[in-house]
Amino acid sequence: MAIRNIREEGDEILKKKSKDVEVIDEKIIELINDMLETMYKYNGVGLAAVQVGILKKICVIDIDDGRPALKLINPKITKQKGEQEVEEGCLSFPNKYAKVIRPKEITVEALDETGAKIKIVAKDLLAQAIAHEVDHLNGEVFVDKMLPGTLEIITPEDIKNNSK
Ligand code: NI
Repeated sequence: MAIRNIREEGDEILKKKSKDVEVIDEKIIELINDMLETMYKYNGVGLAAVQVGILKKICVIDIDDGRPALKLINPKITKQKGEQEVEEGCLSFPNKYAKVIRPKEITVEALDETGAKIKIVAKDLLAQAIAHEVDHLNGEVFVDKMLPGTLEIITPEDIKNNSK
């Protein structure tokens, strides 16, 4: 396993649409394992393949709810219900946080790493995280949909000063 380099704001790849995974081979499994390691290293709750420079429809999510990480291949949101106004950040926008509107409940269909079809009904934070990652696979990032006036820029220096 290896930590991959995270593409950040200004990198044009973040605006590109990812392609379906056709065959789940060893390279895809290695990519998924690397994405998990990279997400945990930087304390993220989700990561899409495009964020490590690979335009394939793959994302990993772990909202730290005690359940195993989700590994979603070719995810498709098939249903969504309600709305929630939530604070959001992204590993590709390391110092930025803003409020966005996300669905309150989401149904997503995908393949797992064995190629089996999975269907997940998620609420609240998990629904938010899935919506955020599926957006990445469509070339969309959270700052494009942030609510006006809610952007906060928090630098590592701010965090240091606050903890003094
Ligand atoms: Ni993100």
